[in-house]
Amino acid sequence: MRVRIMPGSRLEGKARVPGDKSVAHRWIILAATAIGRSALVEVPRSLDVRSTASCLARITSKARPALDAWSSNDGSLAKGHGSTWNLGVEGSVGTAALRALEVEGEGRSGLVAPAGALDCGNAGTTMRLLSGVLASAPFETELVGDRSLSTRPMERVAQPLRSMGAVVETADGHAPVRIVGGALSGIVFEPGTPSAQVKSAVLLAGLDADGRTEVREPVGTRDHTERALAALGAPTSVSEGSVLLERYQHEGFAATVPGDPSSGAFLVAAAALSGSELTIVGVGLNPSRTRFLEVMARMGIHTERRIDRFELGEPVGELWVAPSAGIDSLRVEPDEIPLVIDEIPVLALLAAHADSESRFLGASELRVKESDRLEGIAAGIRALGGAAAAEGHDLVVGGGGLQGGRADAMGDHRMAMAFAVAALAARGPSEVDGMQRADVSFPGFVATMQSLGALLEELP
Ligand code: S3P
Repeated sequence: MRVRIMPGSRLEGKARVPGDKSVAHRWIILAATAIGRSALVEVPRSLDVRSTASCLARITSKARPALDAWSSNDGSLAKGHGSTWNLGVEGSVGTAALRALEVEGEGRSGLVAPAGALDCGNAGTTMRLLSGVLASAPFETELVGDRSLSTRPMERVAQPLRSMGAVVETADGHAPVRIVGGALSGIVFEPGTPSAQVKSAVLLAGLDADGRTEVREPVGTRDHTERALAALGAPTSVSEGSVLLERYQHEGFAATVPGDPSSGAFLVAAAALSGSELTIVGVGLNPSRTRFLEVMARMGIHTERRIDRFELGEPVGELWVAPSAGIDSLRVEPDEIPLVIDEIPVLALLAAHADSESRFLGASELRVKESDRLEGIAAGIRALGGAAAAEGHDLVVGGGGLQGGRADAMGDHRMAMAFAVAALAARGPSEVDGMQRADVSFPGFVATMQSLGALLEELP
């Protein structure tokens, strides 16, 4: 899908963003591996989360019909095998919201061997987190993914799981990943590259391992797994960058998935670029996800947060964006990168509107995301009439604004949304190809932007 973006939008109103993808992956995994019934509300129907649900359907019995129906996007209400699922509820983000997904779990020991390979689609989180679950399951599984996912590094998760006792084979470091699970022992693990996915895979394996599992993070990453496990009563503790965990079988739970702050980042940027005031409600405010707001503050974008409640250890509330007068250039240091890893595309596109050069240092992890985002961001900024270059591990963004132009998302959801948002403040009209990829994390992105007043239209 191609969209045209015209300059001169004013955004207005209150916005909601779809449920947090990172949180939803983890909670669906925890629901499917719990003992008893769980009810999850506002699970985003983003493609990535559906991949997790459909893979879990293949390795569960009682939970299978609910997970299957939900992930296959079947809009009917149904009951069966101890589970209820209820689709097609219109929310403020259109049909992207699902009111309740009820899943009957049979615990980790209730997992069953799948009939064929598990297809993780485009989702690195699905492949890496499920590897941690499957590491202790006493059967063989093969995890496959799409072309993009099949180029992404998997040894970083295979290695610690092997040292815990699982058989894990990769194809030259990539998917397909073959796992023969079995009895695991806890390890002390210090990841070479900061990664919440790898940390979470080890913790999910540690939940079903003998002894103690410890992950020592060199640089902090998002902590949704730790928070959920603590809220579910697991014997876990966190101190000075180290997470400790012992074997635990949790029970079913009920929780509402918070709005995704990484999706919110696109709306904050859109408001800032159009000098508008905006409030995002029901959004996740976990500090390990909101570092981008500190970075935006350095760019002159003022926001305020108010926590209203907690959901399975996750703070949720309102995010208010003040009207901005302009964008300042910035420098992001390497140790800050892991905490803004998913927001760098939108931060870089914002930086293209600053009056001078910005630098994102030590950002080479972006080269192994859904696309080579370092090259893709630079190419997109140039295509929209700005200046940018990927230089080794760094991204240099020229500043001075965008003229307008035509950019390709290159199959990457975050690039598609970052380009569309940045084009709102370009001097002339722009077009973005591949906008349909937004569905990977923000179903209803174009409709949400339009409803706030953004001059953005789908082209035939
Ligand atoms: C995620 C962690 C990050 C992030 C990804 C989601 C997660 O990846 O980029 O979009 O849910 O754990 P890494 O852990 O590989 O940095």
